[in-house]
Amino acid sequence: MMRLVTLEFVMYGFRRKHLKPALLLLVLLVVLSVGYSDLSHGAFVLLFASLLFLAIAAAFARNAMTQAHAVNARVAMTAPPRGRKTGAVAGRRKRSEALSPDATVTLADERRAADVEDVFTALDRRLVGLVPVKKKVEEVASLLLVDRVRQRFGLQAPRPSLHMCFTGDPGTGKTTVALQMAALLHRLGYLEKGHLVHVMRDDLIGEYIGHTAPKTKRVLEKAMGGVLFIDEAYYLYRPGDSKDYGQECIDILLQVMENDRDKLVVILAGYRDRMDQFFASNPGMSSRIAHHLDFVSYTLDELLAIGRVMLDGSSYYLSDEAERAFREYLTLRMEQPRFANARSVRNELERARLRHAHRLAADLEVSRSKDDLMRIEAADILASPLFASSALAAAAELAVAGKPAVADRRT
Ligand SMILES: Nc1ncnc2c1ncn2[C@@H]1O[C@H](COP(=O)(O)OP(=O)(O)OP(=O)(O)O)[C@@H](O)[C@H]1O
Ligand SMILES: [Mg+2]
Repeated sequence: MMRLVTLEFVMYGFRRKHLKPALLLLVLLVVLSVGYSDLSHGAFVLLFASLLFLAIAAAFARNAMTQAHAVNARVAMTAPPRGRKTGAVAGRRKRSEALSPDATVTLADERRAADVEDVFTALDRRLVGLVPVKKKVEEVASLLLVDRVRQRFGLQAPRPSLHMCFTGDPGTGKTTVALQMAALLHRLGYLEKGHLVHVMRDDLIGEYIGHTAPKTKRVLEKAMGGVLFIDEAYYLYRPGDSKDYGQECIDILLQVMENDRDKLVVILAGYRDRMDQFFASNPGMSSRIAHHLDFVSYTLDELLAIGRVMLDGSSYYLSDEAERAFREYLTLRMEQPRFANARSVRNELERARLRHAHRLAADLEVSRSKDDLMRIEAADILASPLFASSALAAAAELAVAGKPAVADRRT
């Protein structure tokens, strides 16, 4: 019987490609069966308990390793490009020579030397709208630029606190701007590495006593020299839950934000009203945040412009009719649940690309021009399930024909 069971386990291992666990189970079963036949009752119970304990410990260790890998993967995903980094460091070193008191320097030269032009170009060209956010980024950059020159003249340049809070609805560009901010702070010499570690509550807070501090510290270690981006930061604090370990995490963060502010920038992100509540309950956190950037939801015209930028970046474009259909699509989509601003634009354009490809592939024998491969037609947009009801489809088709059927509510 025992042999049958063990054979079944080994076969399971081969069948399901779980060879390692199957072999481990086989060894355990052999040890247990030998123990059962050869050991006294007491010794067998002891052997069984020890094996059970080892199995539970191994499961916990595996869980901890998986979580550490998850954080590592996020770091890797958001690290700045290596080539640029090296260039920036070289540029910074070259320009950090001391200046004599009667020397003069232009900030334009200093900015070029810091190699930040392409960060601003990316912000300006690739991100539509967000004027107040871009202005704030410029202000922070100007402060650090002036500090660099002051240092070269031997003037005092106390390090400003740059912890920030990004508020806004989903898909308004918070993570994208945080990545650019990390690159900027690195190139201006404020941060040593300039990578961004993106975390949420579960990456920082544990589930039992003694779990939270090491978890939070591990994340902080990974973020040192870069930006720690805490998404939906208000979930760190659960008022009224006495068993929650969020406060322990917040206390550690507060300490590091104060003591290591020359090594780490913390950016808290989330919906504006919930962040306000979070700050009201955690005045210590509020007082350490130097800059608040509010990401206002996009207007319909901005969403269309974002769509154009996205398509342009991947060598597609909308025909005039498709553009009108997309306007209709967005007008409807903005009123739907789970609308996520620019992310919804990106998702729908991905779907339109699929439909475009499917339409072209429907007749494989037809010759296609370069333009055919780039042009998205109204049909590729109107096939969206959002237009599923015949009334909406009819209204959209009218609009595509040049007679607006759905009023612009957000422009
Ligand atoms: N102003 C913009 N111009 C062009 N593309 C944008 C703009 N804002 C956001 N995007 C694009 O939209 C997508 C979503 O942006 P991002 O992830 O930065 O939003 P988010 O505010 O962090 O969203 P969430 O709150 O859901 O995490 C990204 O692909 C980003 O490049
Ligand atoms: Mg985000």
